[in-house]
This record gives sequence, structure tokens and C-alpha cells, in this order.
Amino acid sequence: MTNPKLDITSSPSSDNVADPDSGCLAVQTRRSLLLGALAGTACLAGSRQAVAEDDQPGADERPQKGDILVFTDGDREGAVVRSADLSLGGPPVHAWPKDPRTSVVRSGSRLNEILIVRLDPAELDEQTRSRAADGIVAYSAICAHAGCPVTGWVKSDAGDKVVFKCMCHNSEYDPRESAQVVFGPAPRRLAALPLALNDGALTVAGAFIGKVGAQQQG
Ligand code: FES
Repeated sequence: MTNPKLDITSSPSSDNVADPDSGCLAVQTRRSLLLGALAGTACLAGSRQAVAEDDQPGADERPQKGDILVFTDGDREGAVVRSADLSLGGPPVHAWPKDPRTSVVRSGSRLNEILIVRLDPAELDEQTRSRAADGIVAYSAICAHAGCPVTGWVKSDAGDKVVFKCMCHNSEYDPRESAQVVFGPAPRRLAALPLALNDGALTVAGAFIGKVGAQQQG
């Protein structure tokens, strides 16, 4: 059944179509009441933050070439992500793009959340390596199935590799091969974000490649 809230595309700037809470709703329908309540609290908090960020021009625009990347949460929330912050083989870091000229963090749209992981360059296929910076690769953190955030970094159900996993319906993506789907219902890979390094800091080298967000419904 068509659900326009989960119909998210790769608009190059503002996402009037996308509901910032769509992934939260998807999670809440599939958890216990208690977990649903907790998720709801987190979603509401995220919504308030998104509203505040929306007030800043550029906060909901997709990552732009030259943006720096900053941690989304934890002790280092807001700090610039540097190559030295990433351990070889993971786990991934979650980041927002940030405009270095205006200092606006582009957290006004959840579609801008990015997964970054450092891998052995020799493991990357040619296309992935061309977008990587010293083995560090970046992808949209929003699952292509129904728009949940991709949070897992686990051994694949389909092989021996450690891969990204969306816990909502178990879709898995291999970051070594352009985040292609290796398990689960996702219809397509995660959008890739080309990276560069500038004095050890990660920067965006180009726009997202591929669609960002959930599959087209109906
Ligand atoms: S939202 Fe269904 S697998 Fe991610």
C-alpha cells in the first residue's frame, strides 16, 4: 500500500517531499510498546532538533562539494571527523555534512546523515576506491527499503564479511562494493558520497551518487 511518507527521492536540495520522521515511524511500527515509546521519545527529540536546524539556511540542503563532516552524536558531537578518528575495519562513524563557510551543520534533513567507515583499500572494488579517501568510504545512512537509519555493523548473514545492516528488516549493504545489497529486502544500494582528505580532515568531494532514502512506493 502506498505510503507517501516513505517515498523519498534524491532531490538535490530541500526535501519538501520527505518527512523527517519517516524512519522513526517505520521503527515504531515494528517494536514492542516499550521500545516504541522509547523510540518515539527519541524521534520527538530528533524532530525538535530538525526544526531548529531548519531555521538555518542550507541546513536541509544535500551535502555539497567542500563540506566538512562532523560527528552526529556522542562525546565528540559536532567535532570534525578526521581520518585518524576512524579505525581500520570499522566500526562506522555517523556524521553530518557542515558548510565550512557558514558553519551550518546540514542536519535539517535526516536524509543528510552519513555513514563513514575505514577499510583496506585493497578490499574495495574499482568504483568504490575511486570515491574513497585513503580507504575511507561514505554512504547515506538511510536504508533504501523503508527509510530506517542503518545502524548495524555486523557479520553478514550472506557471507563472512562485516557489512552495514539495517535492523528494521535486516537489509545488508557491502561498503566495499558501492554498498550493494547483499541480504534482505532493500531494492537498491545506499547512495555513495565521494570523499577527499584535507590536512587529515574528511571533506565531501561531490554530491551523492544514487538515490537517497527509501524506495519509491507504488
Ligand atoms: S527499512 Fe526495511 S530493511 Fe531497512
